[in-house]
Amino acid sequence: MLIKTNREIPSSEITPESVYVSRRKFMGQSASAAVLAGIAGSAYGLPENFVSEQGFAKGEPIGEKITPEEYATRYNNFYEFGTGKEDPSKKAHVLTTEPWSLEVGGRVGKPGKIELEDVLKDIDLEERIYRLRCVEAWSMVVPWIGFPVKKLLERFEPLGDAKYVKFTTLYRPKEMPGIRSIFSSVDFPYVEGLRLDEANHPLAIFSIGMYGKVLPNQNGAPFRLVVPWKYGFKSIKSIVKIELTEREPRTTWNKSAPHEYGFYANVNPNVDHPRWSQAQERRLPTTIFGRKIETRMFNGYDEVASLYEGMNLKRKY
Ligand code: MTE
Repeated sequence: MLIKTNREIPSSEITPESVYVSRRKFMGQSASAAVLAGIAGSAYGLPENFVSEQGFAKGEPIGEKITPEEYATRYNNFYEFGTGKEDPSKKAHVLTTEPWSLEVGGRVGKPGKIELEDVLKDIDLEERIYRLRCVEAWSMVVPWIGFPVKKLLERFEPLGDAKYVKFTTLYRPKEMPGIRSIFSSVDFPYVEGLRLDEANHPLAIFSIGMYGKVLPNQNGAPFRLVVPWKYGFKSIKSIVKIELTEREPRTTWNKSAPHEYGFYANVNPNVDHPRWSQAQERRLPTTIFGRKIETRMFNGYDEVASLYEGMNLKRKY
């Protein structure tokens, strides 16, 4: 497997394989005693100041230039903590993330509740570099730590009639000031969804860490979705509930402004948001006057195209 280091590479050169650059096992049966010994600070398998082999925490470029950590952790969307980009980094520290349980139900053979700690015992974590592209036209390249969504879903045995996956965020007004705010433009709890075949695509991951460390609360600790070929709002944070359904679930942004935010929300430079173009983006770090780059179909992840064969992506935006 090719590992590219210390050289900035044009995005056109990035192969799907490069997202798997580091398949280091952080935990699971094969985890070393040293790694396990270091988990005292966290129930989720990553010591607080863990630095990955590639040195992401130091900001070394691998493949596309990695967004400096301070941008990815200070410029956020997490409406449960307010609508300002800096609200989550200022306010999310009060969120209690341990212990954390997940409820999995709906059209599955074995519904149930599971502690996140127990999920992670049986799963090998991987480090993957993904672009995240938001509708407001900024984008980042982040080294996420996680595992394929499919790995968790299969454990609950999806039934034959399950067609969609609905994800729900924690609803805890006491610790989430944005929920209590009268200024919020969306309903809570935050809900997102995928078609089951999208969720089962190997590029769709649940993340528990970034930059070689556990996820900061503002980035969706302790457990979030990352779907790199879709606009950022699909990548729901701090998930507590997963349901498999026969029907397409109603989702937060789609409910709030259906003509602006579709269920699919695939990154698509040919379909504009009704109020602005989606053809270009600004890669953080930059300013609003900074250089723009061309947005690529599916955010550059061409390998997902077959999921949408025969669909009119202008209508199913
Ligand atoms: N998840 C929840 N629960 N609440 C939110 O407000 N915002 C979404 C998504 N997940 C959001 C959420 C949006 S609009 C974006 S762009 C991404 O999170 C931002 O992720 P980041 O802050 O880690 O970059």
